[in-house]
Amino acid sequence: MSHESITVSIAGTGSCLPDKTLTNADLAKIVDTSDEWITTRTGIKERRIAEGMSNSDLATGAGRQALENAKLEASDIDQIIVATVTPDTLMPSTAAYVQHKLGATKAIAYDISAACSGFLYAMQLAENAIKAGSAENVLIIGSEKLSSFVDWNDRTTCVLFGDGAGAAVISKGGEGAILATEIGTDGSQTEILKIPGGGSNCPTTASNIGDGLASIKMEGQEVFKHAVNRMKTAANSVIEKANLQPSDIAQVIPHQANLRIIDAISKRLDVDKDIVFVNLDRYGNTSAAAVAIALDEAQRADKFKRGDHIVLVVFGAGLTWAASAIRW
Ligand code: UT7
Repeated sequence: MSHESITVSIAGTGSCLPDKTLTNADLAKIVDTSDEWITTRTGIKERRIAEGMSNSDLATGAGRQALENAKLEASDIDQIIVATVTPDTLMPSTAAYVQHKLGATKAIAYDISAACSGFLYAMQLAENAIKAGSAENVLIIGSEKLSSFVDWNDRTTCVLFGDGAGAAVISKGGEGAILATEIGTDGSQTEILKIPGGGSNCPTTASNIGDGLASIKMEGQEVFKHAVNRMKTAANSVIEKANLQPSDIAQVIPHQANLRIIDAISKRLDVDKDIVFVNLDRYGNTSAAAVAIALDEAQRADKFKRGDHIVLVVFGAGLTWAASAIRW
């Protein structure tokens, strides 16, 4: 069978959010901010914080739910790909912990690092593995414990991020299909969004931690501009590649970083705001998990049905971006 005649679909989705909620009012007690500033500049009202839970616990919860939704067993999974920038440990991969917790003994397991775009990077890898014949069912998980990498004294970043995980089982065949994917990286802009410390270039030492180097640094306005441009271009490209019109799309599911970014993209794509899924008010920016949680929630809320077309679109550090047009 040629690669072109193999179709690949999303067989099931899941998500896992920690119980603890941190509201804007809670944050105003820690740093010089207000509910009014956070709401008008970002749309975020609250976020979840994983207390007593690891990234791999969240990932396992989301993965288990995606398996149930796909009516598959852990033993059916050939690969587990965890997209994360906040792994449990630098070594081994978070995916290895998840493999064990799920009991998916047959699956090879590895992490990928593409920041907020990681879930769609993982989807592309899964699709390619299935089309190449090396897997039939791949569990992809976007999972983050960003609260461990936030500088809780920096009001310009600490109000933005949250913890959580989302997952999908990507399978050979099925009723739906991944129709088109666009994916890209611009490594010339690494400085505008990064965690400078903790890697081999700046190992974790007491002084680095003291200097705040082990937490997220962002030039917000620069990132904002790139995010709007790249997501608009990537989404338009997959809509065209899939031979669709904006009016054919039942739901756009964008990365959840800022409501103003999402609104700007809706306008530029010429789609009605009502079909653009938003949950960042409840979770903030959960990086690689964001689009995965949004996909799961949109699916469970019946925002689209079998045969409908949806578009996922993401952007993150790297810079990285991706979009996928999918027939559900
Ligand atoms: O997930 C990966 C992709 N990430 C993104 O897409 C994030 C993109 N960037 C953004 O979403 C926005 O740039 C932010 C939400 C991060 C910031 O919004 P902004 O409208 O770009 O604000 P700004 O950085 O220009 O700051 C405006 C003012 C500044 O004060 P001055 O210099 O005007 O006096 C900041 O110091 O707001 C101040 N400020 C705050 N005030 C209250 C910054 N953070 C806060 C805060 N509370 N939390």
